[in-house]
Amino acid sequence: AREYAVKILITDKIVDEGIAILEKKGYTVDTRYDLTPDELLAVAPDYDAFIVRSATQMTAEVIAAAKNCKIIGRAGVTCDNIDVDAATACGIPVCNVPTSNIVSAAEHTMALMLAAAREVPAANASVHEGAWRRDAFMGHELFEKTLAIFGLGRIGGLVAERARAFGMRVVGYDPYCSPSRASQLGVALYDDMSEVLPLADFITVHVPRTEETYHMFAAEQFAMMKDGVVLVNTARGGIIDEAAMADFMAAGRVFACGVDMLESEPAADTPLAEFDRAVLTPHLGANTEEAQMRAGVNIARYVANGLEGLVVPTV
Ligand code: MLT
Repeated sequence: AREYAVKILITDKIVDEGIAILEKKGYTVDTRYDLTPDELLAVAPDYDAFIVRSATQMTAEVIAAAKNCKIIGRAGVTCDNIDVDAATACGIPVCNVPTSNIVSAAEHTMALMLAAAREVPAANASVHEGAWRRDAFMGHELFEKTLAIFGLGRIGGLVAERARAFGMRVVGYDPYCSPSRASQLGVALYDDMSEVLPLADFITVHVPRTEETYHMFAAEQFAMMKDGVVLVNTARGGIIDEAAMADFMAAGRVFACGVDMLESEPAADTPLAEFDRAVLTPHLGANTEEAQMRAGVNIARYVANGLEGLVVPTV
């Protein structure tokens, strides 16, 4: 009898080492990084497992079409591009690699905070253009400034540690964080967002994008912030209302911002683009050799385990 060939579809790029793990097991691995949603729907029934990053939308429709699917792997932390409820209803486990890229995300947060506070991109651009304008760029130190962290999960916690190494005072807001974790992190925890906003010289966001966090920072919240505040978002687009932030930047109330996650991703269509002090990167928080190696290799192992009927940690 012919043996059944197990087929895995990878729709967002993962490292070759991850693919090699799956091929060594004898699985057929197809990498299709430019599938349209309709093409994904059409090929979904052919596969036993799927591996995605953040770009592929594993909707309820795709999951229902994936009749042979036994496991879905997310090579990253956040599963907001996978309809986990629909997968669970179909008996398909979804697994992720929740610590693979948290250091990279925390370091990118610090990179954006420093770049925004010192206007590094605009200064860099001016030197590339042949100018030498030292007076045009007068930045701010992080030292002895107050950083407000919204969301004290794994990434927020790593940012707190790094900020403290810079000599920042760290305050936080997170209804799900215990007082003992906050004190372990050296973060003064507040119960009310409106108490934290007026304290902060720097604000960073590390919450998932949910109905609760959509436009969590809108005009009303910007109005409560200190003049000259610097905001950073490496979490998800839509948590900060970009139009409101652009208004407050235009009014000189927000000094600068560092934004890795735009609401309109993948299009870079944002009112922030007109500001030199808006430091914008295209969803790079997890884009390091190290994080991608961890994510790609570990998700491949989990998916292989799942296909062999072994227990995998699911979301
Ligand atoms: C995540 O949520 O883990 C990141 O968005 C990962 C990624 O870049 O795919």
